[in-house]
Amino acid sequence: MPDPIAGSQERTRVLADGSLIPTLGLGVWQVPDGPECEGAVRTALELGYRHIDTAQAYGNEASVGRALRESGVPREEVFITTKLNPRNRDPAAAAEQSLRALGVDQVDLYIVHWPGGGPTWAWPGMEEAHQRGYARSIGVSNFSVSELDQVIAIATVAPVLNQVQFSPFEYRRALLAACRERQVALEAYSPLGTGSHLSDPTVAGIAEALGRTPAQVLLRWCIQRETIVIPKSTHRERLAENAELFDFALSADELAALDALDRTGGTERARERSWW
Ligand SMILES: NC(=O)c1ccc[n+]([C@@H]2O[C@H](COP(=O)([O-])OP(=O)(O)OC[C@H]3O[C@@H](n4cnc5c(N)ncnc54)[C@H](OP(=O)(O)O)[C@@H]3O)[C@@H](O)[C@H]2O)c1
Repeated sequence: MPDPIAGSQERTRVLADGSLIPTLGLGVWQVPDGPECEGAVRTALELGYRHIDTAQAYGNEASVGRALRESGVPREEVFITTKLNPRNRDPAAAAEQSLRALGVDQVDLYIVHWPGGGPTWAWPGMEEAHQRGYARSIGVSNFSVSELDQVIAIATVAPVLNQVQFSPFEYRRALLAACRERQVALEAYSPLGTGSHLSDPTVAGIAEALGRTPAQVLLRWCIQRETIVIPKSTHRERLAENAELFDFALSADELAALDALDRTGGTERARERSWW
């Protein structure tokens, strides 16, 4: 029997700075600015999503903001993340631009999108954005353990989250353990392998045995590995499917079978090959 209380406890996480983050969010990478992005965000909000993950580099912050306003869902009920494009050399000024595009006074989370130009140069500017109230929480993305440690060493305000590529196929065990030790939440991006993990036979077999879908199995694995997960879809039925994660659980054997799909050797790195 599903345990509704356990389910509700899994729906949010407390970050190290005390802020709450919903463990399921909608990612909008590669969703074109305009009707497609607005539609996906509006539908997700209708279906109960309360967390949207965008970025300066995605070019769709304005659509996210418009959909949020048109949804009628109160601003304070929705967790909004945006990311510093490290090509913008002034993180606080870039945050101000994001706020204007989104049409909000503050984002819930502002993260360095990748350690371009080195892991530490942006951090004082991220702290400035936080101090000015542009971002309630600040963090990083695509940072390995050593890059995270370099930021922590110079930080006045520590990063509370590291968003990385993470799925059974990229089970970065050492990175996850190190994040946990440092009170940094790990957020799983590309949890479906940008679609490519959905046809794997192990995933499909577990889904069939449970009467669930491959996407639900992959996303549930992320939840049970105590990460925050941000799948992307622009289709209503898939958005609905991807949100049904809190009324079932994978067994220890199913988790182990999925863990064994890892192709990273349990790495502490954020990427095998960096694209920056
Ligand atoms: N920080 C970073 O550097 C970084 C990098 C990559 C991604 N991200 C974040 O992570 C988010 C998710 O990652 P992602 O966009 O790479 O992809 P993903 O969530 O792993 O997979 C999305 C793909 O799977 C399809 N899909 C989604 N749900 C499905 C379902 N239930 N059944 C069948 N197909 C389904 C989608 O198609 P449809 O849309 O056509 O339904 C899309 O092609 C991004 O949007 C972004 O916010 C961050």
